[in-house]
Amino acid sequence: MTAFPTLFSPFRIGSMSIKNRIVMSPMETHLCNAEGFVTKELISYYKERALGGAGYITVENTAVDPAGRVNDGMMCIHDDKFIPELKNLVDTIHAVGGKIILQLSHAGREALPYFTGTGTVAPSAIPSPLTKEMPKELTIDEVKAVINAFVCGAERALKAGFDGVEIHMAHGYLVNQFFSPESNTRTDDYGGDTVRRARFGKEIVEGIRKKVPGDFPVICRISADEYTETGLKLEESKEIAKILERAGASAIHVSACNYASAFFNIPCYYLEEGCFVHLAEGIKKVVNIPVLSVGRIQDPVMAEEVLKESKADLIVLGRPLIADPYLPNKIKEGNLEDIQVCLSCNRCIESISDKKLVCTVNPYVGKDELFHLQKTAKPGKVLIIGGGPAGMSAAITLSGRGHNVTLWEKNGELGGNLRYASMAPKKEPVKKYLQYLVNQIKKKKVSIVLNKEAGEDDIKQFAADVVVLAQGAKDVPVEIKGMEENRVLNVKGAFSSTDTIGNNVAIVGGAAEGCELADYLSLQGKKVSVIEMRRVLGLGLVAHPRYHVCERLRKEGATLMVNAKVTEIGRNYIVISRRKQPDEKLEGFDTIVIPTLHQPNMELESSLQPFVSEVYTIGDAKEGRTALEAIAEGVEIGLKI
Ligand SMILES: Cc1cc2nc3c(=O)[nH]c(=O)nc-3n(C[C@H](O)[C@H](O)[C@H](O)COP(=O)(O)OP(=O)(O)OC[C@H]3O[C@@H](n4cnc5c(N)ncnc54)[C@H](O)[C@@H]3O)c2cc1C
Ligand SMILES: Cc1cc2nc3c(=O)[nH]c(=O)nc-3n(C[C@H](O)[C@H](O)[C@H](O)COP(=O)(O)O)c2cc1C
Ligand code: SF4
Repeated sequence: MTAFPTLFSPFRIGSMSIKNRIVMSPMETHLCNAEGFVTKELISYYKERALGGAGYITVENTAVDPAGRVNDGMMCIHDDKFIPELKNLVDTIHAVGGKIILQLSHAGREALPYFTGTGTVAPSAIPSPLTKEMPKELTIDEVKAVINAFVCGAERALKAGFDGVEIHMAHGYLVNQFFSPESNTRTDDYGGDTVRRARFGKEIVEGIRKKVPGDFPVICRISADEYTETGLKLEESKEIAKILERAGASAIHVSACNYASAFFNIPCYYLEEGCFVHLAEGIKKVVNIPVLSVGRIQDPVMAEEVLKESKADLIVLGRPLIADPYLPNKIKEGNLEDIQVCLSCNRCIESISDKKLVCTVNPYVGKDELFHLQKTAKPGKVLIIGGGPAGMSAAITLSGRGHNVTLWEKNGELGGNLRYASMAPKKEPVKKYLQYLVNQIKKKKVSIVLNKEAGEDDIKQFAADVVVLAQGAKDVPVEIKGMEENRVLNVKGAFSSTDTIGNNVAIVGGAAEGCELADYLSLQGKKVSVIEMRRVLGLGLVAHPRYHVCERLRKEGATLMVNAKVTEIGRNYIVISRRKQPDEKLEGFDTIVIPTLHQPNMELESSLQPFVSEVYTIGDAKEGRTALEAIAEGVEIGLKI
């Protein structure tokens, strides 16, 4: 018996029966090849998610027309030649008991013209908010041809054996461009009032309906609110949803935003969990077909409530299933503490702009078959130095493979720098992830020794077969005149001693750590000034959180300076220097925080090499970066030894 009975109750969309109410959201992976064909990596990625228990999988957006391909990472279905590989994908998912839907898509003005080579197209000649590229307005004949391309795409999906299709009518792509008054100013039958702007989408659904069995699922994904001043709002989207229902849609998948509001589309940790549920609820009130809700619905308690309160019929999960393919099964079985928590950090979406999908917490993405650990034939005695994310990931993997693992951590608790990473406002997911790592390592047979600072002699004496050095970076303060004589703090020091910090704080360095500290202190009512020598704040953060943290600091009233270099620190003042301006002395600070460089920490490796047969340095100790690299290198070494 599960604690979430509604979430695990069966459901049906047309001919597709579904074992529970959890749907995997369509998410581009760039795991197809450059021509848009399915690859074996892509198949094993989706297979894991089907095995993990999702009710059905929606395969990423797939181009029905070469001109609608957003880049070379987008899958294709614009020709019959794609059917055999797509069929392999479908057969694999069916063989493990899963259900699979394909998302059919045309990016319109958001396709990248340098890539398509044909220029972009749109309902009207209005440039993309992102690329600023001017699209060509589609003629009526061309409109009909694109509608036909969607219909042919659906027919091919049916031939490949998919259980249904989802039409991408959201996120500022072509169908959304037709729906929206912001991007559609046509004066013919495909522009004007809501009915005319909805006509393109309506004719796609009607066209598909004529070619597929009556109960074949045709799901429409819409942006019910574009989160822009002049774009679609919920009330108009309700009318569009009703038109799509009458045209033959089997379900409405309610998402939000377009490219102009992209910082809200894939809600990072600064946005509320379930931030688009109200949109699904609004659409559900006006249609009689199933409604799907998406957007940071990670908490099963929230998912259960959304369903119970009839705000939606199905819960769609995107990033949580990248982070942990087995999340549905874990929820069902009540193993909530085993869920590998998605950080909502959006490294995934940033990665696919030019390469294959990566995930901060799940290094197995794209090599998913490795997740099922092979036991080692030669169990060894392994010593790991450092209990940060790199050391813990290595320990979990090595112990999972049958090695005899000991981990020494100099602090009284595990976590390394992730403990600081979790302290900034809204970064609760990092706290949860850290707890997950601690739970996992405790479940393994790892001998953990806390408050143990490893020295060269101790390590030699331990006589391990393999030593993994994961002791983190060397923190070196940036040299600024006057900092030796005056009391300054570094970012970590400031996070851990906020009660002794004065009311007026200068934070020198407005990269990721400086901005997050500023947010943390501002929320405590302190007057904060951030001084950054480069042109922008928040460098080192992913674009989405960077946008939001800067907005937060502005709203909190922090003083933000860029292109300003701090050249001197005094007891309660700093001197800043700007190009072509006289130096300026800013006074009255109670506390001054200086930046730290995270430098490689490799000396121990060289001194141990003559005495230990295998020594590896991983994570920030190798090079100061982020948790993504630390976790990935921990797992990599765990698989290698
Ligand atoms: C304020 C802050 C915010 C951050 N935010 C993010 C974020 O949002 N996302 C992200 O991806 N990254 C973030 N990072 C970076 C991320 O925390 C690091 O990249 C990551 O923790 C590095 O992992 P690691 O295991 O290699 O090293 P660390 O996390 O530094 O862990 C090293 C561990 O080794 C221990 N140790 C050191 N010497 C010894 C010794 N001789 N003997 C025994 N133990 C020893 C240390 O006590 C420590 O616990 C942030 C960093 C900071 C400082
Ligand atoms: C890496 C990545 C790729 C995505 N690609 C698509 C896509 O191909 N089609 C689509 O409609 N939405 C795409 N999205 C949006 C997701 O489907 C989903 O709406 C979004 O991630 C919010 O859901 P979540 O909070 O559960 O992750 C993508 C999101 C991510 C993170
Ligand atoms: S990269 Fe970050 S947001 Fe994306 S799935 Fe992984 S943890 Fe979640």
